[in-house]
Amino acid sequence: MRATGPGARPALALLLLLAGVAMSAAAAPSAPPLFNVSLDMAPELRWLPVLQHFDLDFLRTAMAHILGDKVPEWVHVVMRKAVGELERFLPQPFTDEIRGMCAVLNFSLADCVLVNLAYESTAFCTSIVAQDSAGHIYHGRNLDYPFGDFLRKLTVDVQFLKNGQIAFTGTTFIGYVGLWTGQSPRKFTISGDERDKGWWWENAIAAFFQRHSPISWLIRTTLSESENFEAAVYKLAKTPLIADVYYIVGGMSPLEGVVITRNRGGPADIWPLDPLNGAWFRVETNYDHWKPVPEKDDRRTPAIKALNATGQENLTLEALFQVLSVFPVYNNYTVYTTVMSAANPDKYMTRIRNLG
Ligand SMILES: *[C@@H]1O[C@H](CO)[C@@H](O)[C@H](O)[C@H]1NC(C)=O
Ligand SMILES: *[C@@H]1O[C@H](CO)[C@@H](O)[C@H](O)[C@H]1NC(C)=O
Ligand SMILES: *[C@@H]1O[C@H](CO)[C@@H](O)[C@H](O)[C@H]1NC(C)=O
Ligand SMILES: *[C@@H]1O[C@H](CO)[C@@H](O)[C@H](O)[C@H]1NC(C)=O
Ligand SMILES: *[C@@H]1O[C@H](CO)[C@@H](O)[C@H](O)[C@H]1NC(C)=O
Repeated sequence: MRATGPGARPALALLLLLAGVAMSAAAAPSAPPLFNVSLDMAPELRWLPVLQHFDLDFLRTAMAHILGDKVPEWVHVVMRKAVGELERFLPQPFTDEIRGMCAVLNFSLADCVLVNLAYESTAFCTSIVAQDSAGHIYHGRNLDYPFGDFLRKLTVDVQFLKNGQIAFTGTTFIGYVGLWTGQSPRKFTISGDERDKGWWWENAIAAFFQRHSPISWLIRTTLSESENFEAAVYKLAKTPLIADVYYIVGGMSPLEGVVITRNRGGPADIWPLDPLNGAWFRVETNYDHWKPVPEKDDRRTPAIKALNATGQENLTLEALFQVLSVFPVYNNYTVYTTVMSAANPDKYMTRIRNLG
């Protein structure tokens, strides 16, 4: 199916068409449940109405599995010893939200914090920000994760309400208070892709104790607090983090699209859209954009090919979803796909992938 040369576009177009047909026929990707979480409620209480919709035993099993499989034993030991001290400086509202859910699940606070940190590592993802010929900005992402069977059942879209209005929207897993994907309506959209530099737990725990922010907590804080694209980019670029990451941000106006390559302490690189020079999209997977991708995990080239085949004038959220459905951009680990555009907040759309 590898198309090269002049034949590439029709072949790919056919592939996209077939993919579309196959999806609508067989395993139609389904929307996750949508919930409102009210920030006007106390943090300990605000997730409890959502939890009622889930089988708590299943949730406990999933969390125990992730804790057992992903968190090294020494981290458990450190966290159990330090949790009393940690409680005093862990950032709000995250800690109290975790505490509230934890009480319902009858897990210790240490374990619940660890589950929240465990999801911070080893997510393989693809994010795309792009500008169409009319200057509209589109943003899409695939979230790929090894424990997909659990996570597909825990994936939710959440509308966070302030004063009864939607303040921001995000996609997450039940029990996980951070966001890897989200939208501040009529302001900006954000996604995060992992940037693995090795020694993940060692570095992350050390930085966590220095009060650096988990990656997904900063996405949520930015969605909650930043007034516009520029302010969001600044906050995402500068705030100290527990681990390296790529932040992809889309805005409201032409040129407002960027990939921020983050070191824990600050930005390593800022890579904006440059449509006047032909760069009408940016694709970020899990490798620095200025370096070649490893051959065994090249999701970047197929995504670029599919975007080239789509063409800037034909870019829509649906077209972006199709790009994110091309193998291996879409693969067996893909848990969900989200497409969004800050200027059209009602079009925020997540689909669970690889169901059944
Ligand atoms: C909660 O967990 C504790 C300790 O693991 C256990 O003793 C207790 O029975 C559990 N309570 C419920 C309601 O499951
Ligand atoms: C969520 O809140 C919004 C804004 O108040 C409201 O319009 C909507 O019906 C609510 N949705 C759900 C699923 O409760
Ligand atoms: C995509 O299109 C650009 C501009 O025509 C071209 O330079 C690039 O090689 C293409 N990339 C792929 C992977 O097809
Ligand atoms: C965009 O769509 C138009 C109309 O469907 C089509 O003629 C054109 O070839 C498409 N452009 C690309 C680059 O595929
Ligand atoms: C993906 O999953 C399908 C169905 O379970 C399996 O047949 C296929 O070998 C898997 N592909 C890869 C690359 O793991």
